[in-house]
Amino acid sequence: DWMREALGLKELEAALQRKLGIPRAIVVAGDSDRSPWVKKEMGRACVACMKELLEPGDIVAVAGGTTMAAVAEMMTPDAKLRDVLFVPARGGLGEDVENQANTICAKMAEKAMGRYRLLHVPDQLSDEAHASLVEEPAVKEVLELIQSCRMVVHGIGDAVTMAKRRKTPPAEMGNIIARHAVAEAFGYYFNEYGDVVHKVKTVGIQLEHLPHVEHVIAVAGGASKAKAIRAYMKRAPHSLLVTDEGAAKAFVGE
Ligand code: G3H
Repeated sequence: DWMREALGLKELEAALQRKLGIPRAIVVAGDSDRSPWVKKEMGRACVACMKELLEPGDIVAVAGGTTMAAVAEMMTPDAKLRDVLFVPARGGLGEDVENQANTICAKMAEKAMGRYRLLHVPDQLSDEAHASLVEEPAVKEVLELIQSCRMVVHGIGDAVTMAKRRKTPPAEMGNIIARHAVAEAFGYYFNEYGDVVHKVKTVGIQLEHLPHVEHVIAVAGGASKAKAIRAYMKRAPHSLLVTDEGAAKAFVGE
């Protein structure tokens, strides 16, 4: 810990907690926009935080994205995690396979030597197909597990970056831009005040569930995400934030 003190990370954490009104912020050195290994350091810090808070028998819902992929990569086995069940937080959001919650969930569970269940729900569903799919026993069972999770771990993205990466149809893209979305998390798009302005239609964790989840960990870094993180945190004041110096300095300097 003397290292973190010497680098001023502790002060940054305290300043972030004050500024965002959140109970705990963990800041790793560097800026993940510039140095790819910083994302892995956030992954390592997130894994430590998960191990501290999880209890055997818990269900943890994990979201998608490259930052969550780094969390999965840094996961290691632990006696506490042996009996933890990993589930994806939500169904398909239009991501490439390596960034999908299902892929990350399976990888994280394997590295933790824990168990996992997956959610096989296609990305673009008609209302009718959606309504009948959620009644399928295999899907319903996993949805119930997701809804009884004790922890959610997710990334936060810049809205337009995420919408482009997911090849969002032009009409939805227009809506995201017209309504000034700045942040994205598990398929929800938020404006700078933290209001939801767009939502990808899929199953799994809904924003309304979050206040009932005991531990919510958001992992996001890089100066380019500062605006997105601040907007999203207005909506999720009981979340823990794992971030990097790049994003943290962008807030504190404001
Ligand atoms: O769902 C994706 C996140 O909101 C951000 O993704 O970690 O690849 O930037 P990322």
